Amino acid sequence: MVNMTMQNLEQILPDAERDFAACATIQDLEQAKARYLGKSGLLTEQLKGLGKLSAEERPAAGASINVVKQGVEEALKARRDAILDAEQAEQLSNESIDVTLPARDQGKGGLHPVTLTMHRLEQIFHSIGFEVAEGPEIESDYYNFTALNIPEDHPARAMHDTFYIDADHEKQAHVLRTHTSPVQVHYMENKTPPLKIIAPGRVYRVDSDATHSPMFHQVEGLWVDENISFANLKGVVQDFLQRFFERDDLEVRFRPSFFPFTEPSAEMDMSWNGGWLEIGGCGMVHPEVFRHVGIDSEKYRGFAFGLGVERLTMLRYGVNDLRLFFNNDMRFLQQFG
Ligand code: PHE
Repeated sequence: MVNMTMQNLEQILPDAERDFAACATIQDLEQAKARYLGKSGLLTEQLKGLGKLSAEERPAAGASINVVKQGVEEALKARRDAILDAEQAEQLSNESIDVTLPARDQGKGGLHPVTLTMHRLEQIFHSIGFEVAEGPEIESDYYNFTALNIPEDHPARAMHDTFYIDADHEKQAHVLRTHTSPVQVHYMENKTPPLKIIAPGRVYRVDSDATHSPMFHQVEGLWVDENISFANLKGVVQDFLQRFFERDDLEVRFRPSFFPFTEPSAEMDMSWNGGWLEIGGCGMVHPEVFRHVGIDSEKYRGFAFGLGVERLTMLRYGVNDLRLFFNNDMRFLQQFG
């Protein structure tokens, strides 16, 4: 009886190891575990059998069973770890992304229509002798307003719905530039006439609806020399627009207006489909602006203008809603390849 039990006991560990090795899943393994360690498992039966032994035999037999039990538990744990590792490896390989696969076809990239307009107008102005200048989009109050003859508390500041950056609006404020005119100031501060530049770029105003975007583009123009007159302004703007729209019969109209940094000032309209469309502001550089940048206004004269780039783009491509430029809808953008 004792020998029989001992023989069975010795067989349990190799049997369990073989059983466990044959299990491919955690569920299989749980079933195999029950055959050895479950309520009526082989090892449990062995332990129950201890009761039939004499008090002298019991400790040694119990110890032998425990050694086997430990072995079975270790074999079980090793197999469980192996199965979990294999399952995880398989899951990882299923979820991995093959970065060498070609991308799904989402159409070719292309330049944004506003960028196309910027390139086109730079090209045209360059061909009539204008250089391209740039300035920062975050401006001090001085460059955006004061140097352009818009002092603090001047009502003209209300014309611009300004994004202020500093918490304290009153002193030393910084703003997102509300127009490209501050580039005039930077440029004139650092150069001596003759000066002939355009300054295309982003500008910002607190305004958002079907015809206004809080960020939009302007192109500034500035020509300073000894004998510059309003006639030069008219000639340059008209020449530019006729070439931009490829229409020799395109006309420009100037309506008297007011800007603190030009005198006289005008609003520019161009002929379009039998009517007139406003495209920007302009005028002769104000002597106060020359004074701020240290240019002698007795000797030099200049004209300046500012055109809306989105407006030019909408007209050239027949786009009827400003918001299309900013929605990034592929169906819209792809038409400008
Ligand atoms: N800066 C003006 C605006 O944004 C346009 C302008 C530029 C007017 C240059 C006159 C001269 O409305």
